[in-house]
Amino acid sequence: MRTALTNALTQLPDALQSVVSDWITDTHFGATFSPEQVAKMEAASGLSDAALRLTLLPLAAAYAVTPISHFNVGAIVRNEDGTLYMGANIEFTGVQLGQTVHAEQCAISHAWTKGATRLTDITINYSPCGHCRQFMNELNGAEALIIQLPQTEPNTLHTYLPEPFGPADLGIESRLLADQSHALPTEDIDIPLLKAAADAANLSHAPYSGNYSGVAVETHDGQFFSGMYAENAAFNPSLPPLQVALIAANMAGYHWGEIRSVALAEVADSTVSHLADTQATLDAIDPDIPLVYSTLSA
Ligand code: THU
Ligand code: ZN
Repeated sequence: MRTALTNALTQLPDALQSVVSDWITDTHFGATFSPEQVAKMEAASGLSDAALRLTLLPLAAAYAVTPISHFNVGAIVRNEDGTLYMGANIEFTGVQLGQTVHAEQCAISHAWTKGATRLTDITINYSPCGHCRQFMNELNGAEALIIQLPQTEPNTLHTYLPEPFGPADLGIESRLLADQSHALPTEDIDIPLLKAAADAANLSHAPYSGNYSGVAVETHDGQFFSGMYAENAAFNPSLPPLQVALIAANMAGYHWGEIRSVALAEVADSTVSHLADTQATLDAIDPDIPLVYSTLSA
């Protein structure tokens, strides 16, 4: 990861390299750029906000984990406050391809785990696939979301996804990134990692199944990364909570070998469950990673 990132830095214009290199070589760099950092990069490079995002794409793609395709996709989302969040595709060997995370899903979920609630733009180095167009149609503000690609004029999501199927077709008003807490009690959970997973479940987006669920990953140095379940009106493009927690760890610069343990919390008596898939994906990553599991009741 670190080598890929420093290699990607050399693809940026010189004026940007000198500004960005201090930030990305900091071990605490979180694959985000604050509005102040964006302003500094714009001033140094003379690029507009939109042109800057295109120029930064090699940095985002450097976070890709692609043992199957070796095809690295990078995405950068812009929150309405001007913060940029990077993302890249993540593949898992030893499980079915449906466990894959697309770069767009990665950048969006990364922003969500850090509190973003309304994205205005997404910049990607390849045209978004149909599954990603559907995933993005679940977002708060999907109607106004702008998709920006190299060599193409920016366009709205609905230009890329005409006659969209979405939450309203199922009578659902809540949107991805904008759910209120589901208020499941978590104060009495005495295992800290499990409590982090339960707190993530409270912020999950699961209006179709009601399977409010969350995962927390602990790394060997004691860091916690939480992931909320992101359901989709078309069901299959939903992103499981393990993937969202792994996205958070990956974007903080961690590798799977640095994972010590994982916790999954989901509501009891739901129509769906993440237990089997979470266990299967973790087994494929490393069968020695322990999984703590608990159901939650209102
Ligand atoms: N991929 C994306 O990340 N976004 C897209 O919309 C197109 C496909 C990834 C998924 C997989 O890791 C690889 O590219 C090959 O499809
Ligand atoms: Zn896609």
